[in-house]
Amino acid sequence: MRKAAAVAFSAAAALSAARALGAPSLKAAAAARGLFLGAAVDAPALADDADYARVLGEQFDMLTPENAMKFDVLHPRPGFAAGSYDFAQADAVVAFARSRGMRVRGHTLVWHRTHPAWAAALSREQQREVLQNHVQTVVAHFRGKIYCWDVVNEAVADDGTLRRRSWAALGPGYIADAFRWARVADPGAKLFYNDYVDGYPHGPMPAKIDGILRLVRRLKQEGVPIDGVGLQMHLAAGLHYGDLRELIRRFARLGVEVHITELDVAVVSAGAAARHLLGQEPFSGELRLQAQMYGEVVGACAAVPACKAVVVWGFTDKHTWLPLFSPTIFDARYAPKPAYEAVRRALADPSS
Ligand code: XIL
Repeated sequence: MRKAAAVAFSAAAALSAARALGAPSLKAAAAARGLFLGAAVDAPALADDADYARVLGEQFDMLTPENAMKFDVLHPRPGFAAGSYDFAQADAVVAFARSRGMRVRGHTLVWHRTHPAWAAALSREQQREVLQNHVQTVVAHFRGKIYCWDVVNEAVADDGTLRRRSWAALGPGYIADAFRWARVADPGAKLFYNDYVDGYPHGPMPAKIDGILRLVRRLKQEGVPIDGVGLQMHLAAGLHYGDLRELIRRFARLGVEVHITELDVAVVSAGAAARHLLGQEPFSGELRLQAQMYGEVVGACAAVPACKAVVVWGFTDKHTWLPLFSPTIFDARYAPKPAYEAVRRALADPSS
């Protein structure tokens, strides 16, 4: 116990020592490269954990509400009336961002995983009205406060074809419609298509990447108002995902902005989850591989001019959707991990 406390103390002391020596925050290092550095934010943690709010405000200049703007949270009750919506959590996250001068990535208006049963029970025509009302109401509610919206999330299946269930049952036009509705409701927000293109346990997903490229190219040709593509990047330490710079460039060549929207790097090994349950950190070799992967992704974004933001999907192992796999850059006591240093180095020198 005493040893754990000493380790926690020395890690925290190392971070303050680095700060005292004038080491820039991650956001300052990112800004020097012309990038935004963001983090997904868990609304309950932001409300309850002062350290969480402090580190978030110190290190990041962009945030994505992790769940607070999803359909089922914002629109829990059937219908169109004001009482069908609940903006409390999302408003709190946006207010925090504004108080710290952070940009907000709105996430996400249309996603097959948030298609509530009450909506699924309606006819196609009624569901279209629900979706239109949802997009218009939500985007208008936050008008002027959102830097960019993930308008449609994960509409392409792993084989590269368009998904056909959930909101997609409205017919192929639902994607273009959602972008058009969002543009009218807040002409100042950049509009993104967001998806995963590789990750654990898939590895690289060439068919899916081609499918997303086809979709975005078609939307642009049809004059649909799309400004960017978000690449999620839920990765695993030690796996190989191919040439990430070239991947980002393939999207950039379509004439869209690219954001890395959901970066985390899971430590996936036989012992990692067990060690987590015993309150132990991953082995140092695992943390090094994790750091390498973080550095690679951030360096790839920094090297491609069209790539303008990197958002980590959680920034502390204390609050992450994958707690067994210690996937973030700060440990559960907010001490910086090797991945933190790797991100800073990649921002300072993307060719390193
Ligand atoms: C995840 C959240 O992190 C979890 O807390 C939630 O239970 C499920 O959704 N792709 C996305 C994100 O676009 O919204 C997902 O976030 C992770 C995968």
